[in-house]
Amino acid sequence: MYHYIEYGSSESPHEDQEKYERFMERIEAGEKIEADDWMPDDYRQSLIKLISMHGISEIMGALPEKEWVPKAPTLKRKLGIMAKVQDEMGHGQLLLRVAEDLMKPYGKTRKDLIENLLKGDLKFHNVFHMPTRTWADAGMVGWLVDGAAIISQTNMLDASYGPYQRALQRICQEEVFHAQHGEAIIMALAEGTEHQRDILQESLNRWWPSLLMFFGPSTADTTGTSKQDIMIKYKIRKSNNEELRQAFLDKYLPRVFSLGLTVPDETVHYDEEKGQWVYQQPDWNEFKQIIKNNGPRSKERLRLREIAYKNNCWVREALSKEAVGS
Ligand SMILES: [Fe+2]
Ligand SMILES: [Fe+2]
Repeated sequence: MYHYIEYGSSESPHEDQEKYERFMERIEAGEKIEADDWMPDDYRQSLIKLISMHGISEIMGALPEKEWVPKAPTLKRKLGIMAKVQDEMGHGQLLLRVAEDLMKPYGKTRKDLIENLLKGDLKFHNVFHMPTRTWADAGMVGWLVDGAAIISQTNMLDASYGPYQRALQRICQEEVFHAQHGEAIIMALAEGTEHQRDILQESLNRWWPSLLMFFGPSTADTTGTSKQDIMIKYKIRKSNNEELRQAFLDKYLPRVFSLGLTVPDETVHYDEEKGQWVYQQPDWNEFKQIIKNNGPRSKERLRLREIAYKNNCWVREALSKEAVGS
């Protein structure tokens, strides 16, 4: 959680009010807000929190799949998963640059973000705290985790903040390839031997609660309601967590069932009257523990990130000297 100084506090409340009204007119008119434009503090802080968490999750999200680069079953799969890992790091870099521009008034940089991650102050996405035990897990991450990411990011493809919206346009195009790469792995396993089908089902059983948690608690179960509301008011996102989860279930449950797979929840069914999927809530206390870095692989992944950060320090130093010298 960040506690930044108030931005724009040197201006009178009256001037701020006029600027705020003009800002809201622009938001309502569907205009894009750019990095140097005036923006209210809660808009800036919501964006910093959202984009830094998104960017860091892209980078931490490369780690579970990176484990499978040396173990991929064929050269074609190895090339596919390597390209995906590389893309995810690129997404992270793109997003952290967007976050860095927003943090300028607070005198913060990307270095602060990485240090906040290593200190445990900046959270990364719940799914990337989980182990990838089998090759089916590598497929599952591409198919359903990237699939869920596409639903969540498509919800922000018209976000009011221009730099984020443009970054998302590019990221989403690549995410579609990631989901297809994952789907290809899943299809091969689903059409394979009994053992391959078994590891696929076992993987889905393990990932199911994490996938439900992916979109966060619904409005009814959370104190985070105001955060969702602020983002909807400022047209950063359109739908709330539960609407996104329903969109995910709508898209993927029929595909899961058509492959002859099941989900580990006998209560799952579509309620025609309500027009939504009914499912058993995952354990939200466990979710809180996972994102507090108490998940099964949290510490190990943070340690890996720290080692990479320290090992690559000389590159950052060399580049900053070059920049100073030029
Ligand atoms: Fe990504
Ligand atoms: Fe991806």
